[in-house]
Amino acid sequence: MTFALYKYIGMAGGILLSAISGGHAGGIEETEVSFSKDIAPVMRRKCATCHMTGTEAGGMALHPRAAWKNIVGKPSGESRFFIVSPGEPEKSYLLMKLEGTHIENGGTGAQMPFAAPPLNARIIQTIRDWISAGALDN
Ligand code: HEC
Repeated sequence: MTFALYKYIGMAGGILLSAISGGHAGGIEETEVSFSKDIAPVMRRKCATCHMTGTEAGGMALHPRAAWKNIVGKPSGESRFFIVSPGEPEKSYLLMKLEGTHIENGGTGAQMPFAAPPLNARIIQTIRDWISAGALDN
């Protein structure tokens, strides 16, 4: 009897929680990330200075017209991961290089952007959300 009651309270709590988070889902956090508007401009400013033609170390052009096709579904040259694996942020080497977890994941080299402060947490989260949503060319 007591058990059944707890179970009931637990369920009610679960329903309440999902009602709250469900209400949230329509808010700002669910706004779709646009690669061309939200990510490509950051790469142009912070990355393309070095990743310009694709022949430099790191081997990928990251200016706006080239970035998407050079990272999505492309194997990393310095790890066993793809640079961006659509839907799989935890398997996308790009995020490891931006967060500095590349070495512990078997990669090499420096945290990106090379010889500059890391990108801020908000833009890294935006990139993570974009990868989770399928890394669209949008
Ligand atoms: C000052 C030059 C410089 C800047 C700026 C820079 N990179 Fe790099 N990048 C390199 C070099 C050199 C390498 C290869 C050596 C290494 O990994 O440290 C590299 C390697 C990489 C790799 C690994 C490629 C592979 O095949 O595995 C990724 C991913 C990467 N950079 C992403 C970025 C991103 C994203 C930015 C911008 C936020 C950025 N880089 C900014 C110089 C730079």
